[in-house]
Amino acid sequence: MKKTAFVTGACINTGVAIVKKFALEGWNVIFTGRNAEKTARAESEYRALFPNVEITGYALNSLTADGTVDEQSVTDLFDELDKKCVAIDCLVLNAADQGLRMKVFENPLSDFTRVIHTNVIWNYALIERAALRMKKNGGGSIVFINSNTAYRAIPDRIAYEASKGAQLGMMRGLALDLGKYNIRVNAILPGMIKTDRWEKNPDFYENVPSRFTPLQDVAVGEDVADAAWYFAANARNTTGAELVIDGGNSIQLYPVIPKE
Ligand SMILES: NC(=O)c1ccc[n+]([C@@H]2O[C@H](COP(=O)([O-])OP(=O)(O)OC[C@H]3O[C@@H](n4cnc5c(N)ncnc54)[C@H](OP(=O)(O)O)[C@@H]3O)[C@@H](O)[C@H]2O)c1
Repeated sequence: MKKTAFVTGACINTGVAIVKKFALEGWNVIFTGRNAEKTARAESEYRALFPNVEITGYALNSLTADGTVDEQSVTDLFDELDKKCVAIDCLVLNAADQGLRMKVFENPLSDFTRVIHTNVIWNYALIERAALRMKKNGGGSIVFINSNTAYRAIPDRIAYEASKGAQLGMMRGLALDLGKYNIRVNAILPGMIKTDRWEKNPDFYENVPSRFTPLQDVAVGEDVADAAWYFAANARNTTGAELVIDGGNSIQLYPVIPKE
């Protein structure tokens, strides 16, 4: 029987590469996006590309209109998957509130909680449901798409950095508590990934990777997807692990300033 991956936030950027990797390897894929129309469009594109596997998209927003975690929609989605007898073999937690422009002294507390609600609490709600099904099925793999900002800060992203740090704590706790059910929980820590935001800040991207990463390049979605696949399909004896994919960015102390 084909295995199934559940990938969150997969209508754009890194999530797309992850869906494609699993589909290419012959897995069925469940994915989410926030917007129903965008999700349906992505679903038809995936289905056209991968006619031999089942790929189904669900519109799922982490938050209700009042900004709290929408736990009910998570429950409803997993109930629907149960009705369709879909077992989840791997959960890839890719969706994230990027928490951009989070200025200390300026942003209201609600901006901070919004990021934590999505990146930490909503992810936990998804994990809880998926892990229960994995336990019944004899095991599975949970993969956080985390960030090297869990360890090294960048400006004006306080809530995002806090959420990525919290994810790593959650990852270790889950790895410990779920190991006895043969559920492995691991994290991928990318540095910069090339996305559609690239074009908006060309100077930054031209200068920063070359000065701050030994490999002088940034990751693409496929690099992250390959790592997610490794944790899902190969890393049989690995849990609670962090795999950094940042061209060496986080081990470099000083920027390399080119000589004029
Ligand atoms: N890009 C980077 O340079 C970078 C670096 C390090 C780590 N990462 C991590 O890698 C992952 C993917 O990054 P990315 O840049 O490809 O992400 P992205 O382009 O920002 O896409 C994020 C996805 O998350 C979904 N999402 C956002 N807010 C949500 C919410 N409230 N409820 C449900 N879904 C929500 C979005 O849905 P919609 O499609 O509906 O907008 C989108 O599909 C993230 O976990 C990110 O933290 C990224």
